[in-house]
Amino acid sequence: MLLTNPCVFAAGNEYQIFVPVKNESVMWIKIGDKCYYDESNGVLRSLSRVHRISVPMKVLDDAKKYTVCNQEIRGRRKAYFNKMKPVKEYEYTFTPVTGDEVRCYHIADTHNRVDEPVKAAEAFGKIDFLILNGDVPNDCGKKKYFNSIYEIVGKVTGGNIPAVFVRGNHDIRGKYAEIFGDYIPTVDGNTFFTFRVGNIWGLALDCGEDKPDSHPEYGGTICCHYFRERETQFIERVADCECHKDDTIIKKIVVVHNPFTMKYNEPFNIEEEMFAHWAKVIKEKIRPDLMICGHLHKTGVHPVGGKIDAHGQPCTVVVGSKPDKNYFKGVGYVFRKDSTDVIFTDSNGEISEAETV
Ligand SMILES: [Fe+2]
Repeated sequence: MLLTNPCVFAAGNEYQIFVPVKNESVMWIKIGDKCYYDESNGVLRSLSRVHRISVPMKVLDDAKKYTVCNQEIRGRRKAYFNKMKPVKEYEYTFTPVTGDEVRCYHIADTHNRVDEPVKAAEAFGKIDFLILNGDVPNDCGKKKYFNSIYEIVGKVTGGNIPAVFVRGNHDIRGKYAEIFGDYIPTVDGNTFFTFRVGNIWGLALDCGEDKPDSHPEYGGTICCHYFRERETQFIERVADCECHKDDTIIKKIVVVHNPFTMKYNEPFNIEEEMFAHWAKVIKEKIRPDLMICGHLHKTGVHPVGGKIDAHGQPCTVVVGSKPDKNYFKGVGYVFRKDSTDVIFTDSNGEISEAETV
């Protein structure tokens, strides 16, 4: 039994489809005549309650529908002669992002909330894709906390449109943070990657923790500086590649939880030199249109040279998440080639006037 609608995440040149299930089971996805399996070197995975299946983006974009096939195992997997229950099939239509006007909703910092961010997204109306931008579970102390990711994406997308997931600093905390990467989209195991949804090109970045690795709060469990050094090499590689120079791209976006070009006070004033380098490389070689952030628990549109630009913003930064008691405000985008409408909406149905950037 599926616990939510499938979550179809865009990462690299594939969709990584995540489906949480109630019982021990195996899973595959059928697109046309071809099956794509949740497998580990030829073994169907059943130990995890969250299935993960990658499919080539073009295959699903062309087919516009897929079937989730789920088969529960009777009792624990034996070495020989397992007994399986009948296969259950769940069909979904899929609408890939197309065209030169693209609607997207952004959610971050929900910290375990599900209903309020879903209501805020509904207030924006129909979308072509969804962004989840970090700190969705409050921490990784229990694996069940991961479910809020699939609940939000399942409800907002219905399994019918793509989503993008980026990790936040709270996602690095707790006993299961080290296996969080098995439960979210990654490329080559990394939580930083590029993605493409229709004519939108994206760079997903991960700033890691928000304080020095030696901070007592982490108790010696963090090596984010080392992680960011790897990410620096990745950013430099992407900057020099051709992937963001395609004429069909109408918007280039950087999605990152932490607006890393702002000035922070102690102990949050980490990696200023490295973050300034990231911003410079991105600005000069990628030339993005918009940087999409959360983390501050505030909402606002910040132009280059504005009050939060301390380390050379590569472009306008939109900070778009405000959680509160029984409340959430997020941000909707309407991307066009020459402009983007930024519209904040909340769980009470309040809708801000569009700010065009
Ligand atoms: Fe955060």
